[in-house]
Order: sequence, then C-alpha cells, then structure tokens
Amino acid sequence: MKDFMIELFADYRAQIVFLHVIAAVVWVGGMIAMKFAAHPSFMQIESPLHRLERISQALKRLFYIVSPFVLILIITAVIMAVGLGFRTAAVDASGNVIDAYAMHIYNLVHVKEVIWMIMSANLGMMILRRNKAQKLLQKGDTTGAKKALELIGKYMVPVNIILGVIAIYLGVTLRNAY
Ligand code: HEM
Repeated sequence: MKDFMIELFADYRAQIVFLHVIAAVVWVGGMIAMKFAAHPSFMQIESPLHRLERISQALKRLFYIVSPFVLILIITAVIMAVGLGFRTAAVDASGNVIDAYAMHIYNLVHVKEVIWMIMSANLGMMILRRNKAQKLLQKGDTTGAKKALELIGKYMVPVNIILGVIAIYLGVTLRNAY
C-alpha cells in the first residue's frame, strides 16, 4: 500500500495537490461565504419561521456540497504525506529520530491530521444538529430550532473556519519545507 501511494504521488503529483487544494477551497470558502455573505442576508427576513427555514435549507445544501470534499481532502492528504516521505526522512525503521528538522516537519503533518479530525467531527455534529433543528421547525418549535441553529452559526462554523485557515497555513509551510 505504501509503495502504491508513493508511485501514485510520483505519477500524479500535480493532480493530487490540486485536488487537495480545491477541496480546502470548497470546504473553507463555503463556510466563509455562508457565515459572511449568506447569513447576514438571511437575518433580514423578519418572520422567524421563514428565516430559520432558509438558514436550515442553506446549511443542508452547504453540508451536501462539502462532504465529498472532506473525503477528497483526507485521501489526498494521506497520499501526499506518504508520497513525500515525511516519516522516512524523520525516523529510522525502529522509530528513532534521525533528523530534528525533518521530525519537526513530520509533526506538522500530524497537527494537520488532528485538525482534519476535529473539523470533520465538528461537521458531523453540525449535520446532526441541523437535522434536529429541521425536525423542530416541522413541529413549529421555532424557539428550539433557533437554539440548535444559533450554536452552528455562532461557534461551530467559526471554529471550523479558524481551523481550516490554520491547516491552509500549515499546508503552505509543508510545501515550502524543503
Ligand atoms: C489529514 C490532514 C492533512 C494532511 C496530512 C495534509 C498534508 C499536506 C501536505 C503534505 C501538503 C504539502 C503538499 C506539497 O508539498 O506538495 C499540504 C498542502 C496543503 N494543504 Fe493539507 N493536509 C491535511 C489537511 C488539510 C486541511 C484540513 C486543509 C484545509 C482545510 C488543508 C489545506 C492545504 C492547502 C491549501 C495546501 C496547499 C499549500 C500550498 O500549495 O502552498 N490541508 N497538505
């Protein structure tokens, strides 16, 4: 599997990096557009039921669009991480550090992996929360739905935007590491 990934990355380097970058653009850019363009516009709708319905529907579409890109991001990430040989440069077969700088870079790869995990878990929780809000809206419980959706807009999306921007910065750092 490792050899396959190394070969795949060697043969399709530009395409794999492209898929990784475009996935980040769609995921992080999608959240920024929702938070700073769509959301303020929805807030102009006076009827709470109508407003919450629009927000819930827009979130559903956003989550549909980003979900495949979340998978593309991790698949390309693993291929790049193996293909670029971060581990091989940092540690020997028994796991002893052979190069301090390479180890530092390898640790950045781990930080990105953790960021991806937190962002994905956060996205999963947002999807569940939105589904719950949608059910409450169907029952006419606008107060309950507002509570559920508010947390997504106020904290969960901003947390993922910040983590996404950090991941992009670390990506640029990794790209220019050698
Ligand atoms: C599983 C976790 C991840 C790993 C192991 C990983 C790994 C990498 C690596 C090795 C590079 C450098 C590619 C090269 O040198 O050609 C890179 C670049 C990049 N990564 Fe990630 N990544 C991960 C997650 C993410 C996430 C969550 C985002 C943003 C949402 C992201 C955004 C980027 C971007 C934009 C670049 C391109 C930087 C540039 O071209 O200068 N990555 N990533």
